[in-house]
Amino acid sequence: MAQSRTVDDPRAPWDNPRPMSDWKDLGPADALRAKDVQQVDVDGKPLALICKDGVFSALSGHCLHAGGPLGQGRLSGDYLVCPWHGWHYHCKTGEGRPGFNIAIPRYETKIEGGRLLVRTTPSTEAKHPSHPPHPLTRPIERAPGPPRVVGISTTVMNRHDPRYSTSEDLLQVALNHAASIGAESRLIKLNDLKFRSCEGYYSKSAHACIWPCTITQLDPGDQLEQVYDAFIHWADVAIIASPIRWGSASSLYFKMIERMNCIQNQLTTHDRVLIRNKVAAFIITGGQDNVQAVAGQMMMFFGELGFLFPQFPFIAHSRGWSAEDMENNVAYVKETEHLRNGAKELAVRSLDMAREILAGRAAPTSAERGGRKAGHPEG
Ligand code: FES
Repeated sequence: MAQSRTVDDPRAPWDNPRPMSDWKDLGPADALRAKDVQQVDVDGKPLALICKDGVFSALSGHCLHAGGPLGQGRLSGDYLVCPWHGWHYHCKTGEGRPGFNIAIPRYETKIEGGRLLVRTTPSTEAKHPSHPPHPLTRPIERAPGPPRVVGISTTVMNRHDPRYSTSEDLLQVALNHAASIGAESRLIKLNDLKFRSCEGYYSKSAHACIWPCTITQLDPGDQLEQVYDAFIHWADVAIIASPIRWGSASSLYFKMIERMNCIQNQLTTHDRVLIRNKVAAFIITGGQDNVQAVAGQMMMFFGELGFLFPQFPFIAHSRGWSAEDMENNVAYVKETEHLRNGAKELAVRSLDMAREILAGRAAPTSAERGGRKAGHPEG
């Protein structure tokens, strides 16, 4: 009959014909000392195994923030740092930094016969963060009221000495007209907001790109939250205005849409559609040409977010490649009635579509992935 043994049994675990119930043999301790942080698998559960100054400790492998793989993290002093967004846990206790009342479970380790053993059950419990969820995570429910239009101006200019912008002017015309026919309107000038560029968490893992954006969650001073709130919660119609810069939309436009990856990525990682029943339209102006490429990019991106388009979803103006007399371009846009009427009609078309949607032609809550997003990321 096989003999049972306790963890105090001096014999090495491999001497025992039966596995110990509560300890797992991870292998030769000397070999495991080669890395200061590594992920080990214990009964299908990933743990972060740490070796600091030759002493082992083991912690849960799942970060409390968004499940980041702590066994792929790094040490910073006495703290294990999550590889996704940098949360810190004490490498011995699993507790957060002073002032952060969080902890991940800790697992006992010991060395027997040159082998490293880890207990399969934790000796401490997780302490989850107690702060309330970010306001952007509230349920997406349209508040009652008239149709709402947000205008996003992406023009870059000197904040202290602003200049006339053709695209922003036409956007303002569209918003004023929307208000005159019963809609609520709001103008957001990206140039007035302080917000950071996308820092590429998606490039670590699709699951590291989270909603709300990591930067919005970690940096209360980041003001792109206003745009997120308008797109996801407030507006029925978004009109995005951009100048043409070297054949593309403005740099602020691209800075904004890179931060929108977290909206689109919810479909990739969670089959979750954040943008539903919303209409997007565009105003594009430039001294030189390339309207079609800019409109194509904007429609592709906002379509990927889940926006719908009215018939003829953009207005544009360009005087062509060789027109360098920009003073005349400014005068032309200010004085030309058909451009201003075009902006008003764009607002009307967009609002008509929004009203139709609000009247019951709702978009589905979930979506087929189609060809481009047919695959699921790991995890
Ligand atoms: S810091 Fe770990 S998942 Fe975000």
